[in-house]
Amino acid sequence: MSTQTSLLPQVSQALALCAICLATIFIPKFLQWRTRMQKLNAIPTVGHSGFFLSYISARKFKTHAQEIILEGYSKAFKVALPDQWEVIVSGREMIEDIRKASDLDLSFIEAVRETMQSDYTLGKPARVDAYHIDVVRTPLTRNLGAKFDELRDEIKASFADEIPAKEMEWIKVPMLYTVMKIIARTSNQYFVVSLSGRDPDFIKLSIEFTVDAVTGARALQHYPGIFKPIVRQFLTNVPNCLKRATGHLELLIRERLEKEKEYGSSDWPGKPNDLISWLLDEAQGHERRKDIVYNIVSRVLLVNFSAIHTTSVTCTNALFYLAANPHLVQPLREEVESIVAELGWTKAAMGKMHKLDSFLKETQRLSGVGGVTMVRKVLRDFTFSNGTVVPAGAIMSVASVGMHHDNTLYEDPEEMKAFRFSNMRSKEGEGLKHRMVGIDPTFTLFGGGGRHMCPGRFFAVSELKALIGEVLFAYDIKFENGEMPAPEWQGVNFSPNRFAQVMFKRRIPGPAQVRADRGSL
Ligand code: HEM
Ligand SMILES: *[C@@H]1O[C@H](CO)[C@@H](O)[C@H](O)[C@H]1NC(C)=O
Ligand SMILES: *[C@@H]1O[C@H](CO)[C@@H](O)[C@H](O)[C@H]1NC(C)=O
Repeated sequence: MSTQTSLLPQVSQALALCAICLATIFIPKFLQWRTRMQKLNAIPTVGHSGFFLSYISARKFKTHAQEIILEGYSKAFKVALPDQWEVIVSGREMIEDIRKASDLDLSFIEAVRETMQSDYTLGKPARVDAYHIDVVRTPLTRNLGAKFDELRDEIKASFADEIPAKEMEWIKVPMLYTVMKIIARTSNQYFVVSLSGRDPDFIKLSIEFTVDAVTGARALQHYPGIFKPIVRQFLTNVPNCLKRATGHLELLIRERLEKEKEYGSSDWPGKPNDLISWLLDEAQGHERRKDIVYNIVSRVLLVNFSAIHTTSVTCTNALFYLAANPHLVQPLREEVESIVAELGWTKAAMGKMHKLDSFLKETQRLSGVGGVTMVRKVLRDFTFSNGTVVPAGAIMSVASVGMHHDNTLYEDPEEMKAFRFSNMRSKEGEGLKHRMVGIDPTFTLFGGGGRHMCPGRFFAVSELKALIGEVLFAYDIKFENGEMPAPEWQGVNFSPNRFAQVMFKRRIPGPAQVRADRGSL
């Protein structure tokens, strides 16, 4: 009896202690949350902002992102995501503010880490030291001229295999999937010389990894941090992809490391000129001491990941517009044939195709790869030059779909004017202005300038021109019923209709084509 009474104060003391502990943890968290919410409340919401209703809005954003962004466009606004807020801004000045911001305030990598769950899908090493970006920006882009022949040969062979159309009859081709196969194969050929891009498992793998990383990310988002490694292992296909990629690449990487040792230098005779060599050239210190094979493999996959999906979507967009607008074939074909007859299939020739450049840029203005661009995680409260404050913790992005459809920036924005940009270019007599790869806050397919603007865009646009060029050269195309199929939106990601088919027929070569083909020899 007496022992029980004497225990009571101890129990209540313990309880009080617990309460104090919890309070010291949660009260500051709560206060921090409240200040953030107060700052966020100053930004108008599109959709609902109440606790439960915002959940409904978040679901709606998954399927109706485009309408929601267009509705909010022209002001800075916020939308609810399942577990946080995304603030979407627009306009030249705000883009300029983001471009100039430090990575410590607005982080690209943290945004990728969250939206792509990159630690569990794309791998941690790439986040810790992002040297693969320099590799894309410099050696990968700089070698375009020297390696263009290889790229062109692989494009020609891939089309012949994947779209074996005859001169007399039309065949139906599932467009997005076929383009993905062609692009995975041609890019892989460019990236990893010694491995045949034609290795079917390798091609399948690079497509699968892209898809698996995206679906894996979606699955992972729903689990708290401590469960993620388990979810990754059992519910996603990422480990399997890494294992298979390692199977393909390990020997290659080890052989090259052996050569380096043998010659005592990274410059050994006969060194292949490809992504693996360029990555090994950059890999230093810690990266080399531990798990070099895993580090290189995960970066190869990462570059693949940044390159294959985006380029496939843009290429399919362009082919859809081409199939739906047969009147564009002749002017584009004439340009490609005359330039190739003069310069062959070279990087320089691709640079001269102003009409094709304009057509590609215009089709991506209307379709593109997503409704937003320049996605960033706000790490410290960020103040725009007009005074708008976005609190730490939010995701922030730019409403590219709004800007691309803005009638103050584009005349007749809903119309596809294939030569919009090449006409501007020839009028102003400024050779480099209005190019697809240019930095232009009104065209944000590759970002809005600054450090993170897509370093692969020069490669992507040259490759796209060579791909569309081959279609113009070798085929006639059309839709069975003449109409563009409806696109699909998944959250802010745009995808051309995955199931749509395009009809292909092999062209009967005219004299100009024969001449141009000779030009390429
Ligand atoms: C048409 C195809 C492509 C599109 C639409 C595209 C788009 C983008 C965008 C919007 C960004 C982020 C920009 C920002 O937030 O400021 C980006 C970053 C990046 N892209 Fe591309 N990209 C394409 C092709 C490629 C290719 C072919 C490669 C590689 C060969 C590549 C490699 C990268 C890398 C490594 C980054 C990260 C840059 C960084 O972290 O600073 N991309 N891309
Ligand atoms: C700054 O510009 C944005 C976009 O035009 C606008 O929505 C916002 O209200 C402006 N902020 C202030 C404080 O004027
Ligand atoms: C593309 O993907 C495969 C595996 O997915 C990878 O092993 C290959 O090296 C990649 N090629 C690149 C990045 O070019």
